[in-house]
Amino acid sequence: QQAPIVVQGAMSSEIDTLIKQLKDAKPMTIGKWQFWQGQLDGYPVIVSKTDIGMENASAATALAAATFHPVAIINQGTAGGHDPELHNYDIVIGKESINIGSFKTPFKARGEGTHADTWAPMDLLTEEEDTSDKIVDKPMRAFPADTGLLKAAHRAAEHYSRGKVVDGVIASSDVWNNELDRIALFHQQYGSSMEEMETAAAAQIARGFNIPFMGVRVITNNATNGSQFEPATSEASQLFTTDIVKAYIHQL
Ligand code: 5AD
Repeated sequence: QQAPIVVQGAMSSEIDTLIKQLKDAKPMTIGKWQFWQGQLDGYPVIVSKTDIGMENASAATALAAATFHPVAIINQGTAGGHDPELHNYDIVIGKESINIGSFKTPFKARGEGTHADTWAPMDLLTEEEDTSDKIVDKPMRAFPADTGLLKAAHRAAEHYSRGKVVDGVIASSDVWNNELDRIALFHQQYGSSMEEMETAAAAQIARGFNIPFMGVRVITNNATNGSQFEPATSEASQLFTTDIVKAYIHQL
């Protein structure tokens, strides 16, 4: 039997269109996490509702990895822009994802205040994991996307018409940032294109299982250029991801 492709989304509105594309979608639940097993172009595909945030995304990814042994995992959905050039319906193919919720602060005495711009990134990989790819001159650990998935995404990009498609950096944490100075810091210091709350967590866990992974996200809001929150954009991410999956199947 063929190893399936897992496609993740956090909320119902970020997976409903994907489930509709599946043939013979059968739901199943592990703990509270929901999965739909079906086929796309005759190939087994599993849609996973991770629920919101890094912890949920991690759990859903570990469950999918251990239960289904997927050939690849794609995390997709909505995001807020850090790059002022990005507008609603633009898509970022996550060539890398980073965790912008993990820092060590320098010591400050009582009364010296809190200064997020002095915090140093903290790597969450343990020494038991293979951290030989640790790059000391890089500002922060980045989880790179699988090259085969990137190739499929670039194919899909040729047919996307609702906005532009760029390669970029997806920044994740359990924080929804609206402070423009903080967003600018992430963009300038770490190269973030956009932010959301799942991709880097899923990437870290997929890495722990050696499963090819990629994040892809649509701009739903962008505080840096006044793009207002537009939830309907989540459909575009799902249709784009469907095209990625189809392209990837033909590469296998
Ligand atoms: N900041 C953080 N999360 C965002 N999401 C969409 N836009 C943003 C943003 N600007 C997504 C997250 C999470 C849900 C709250 O919406 O990935 O799943």
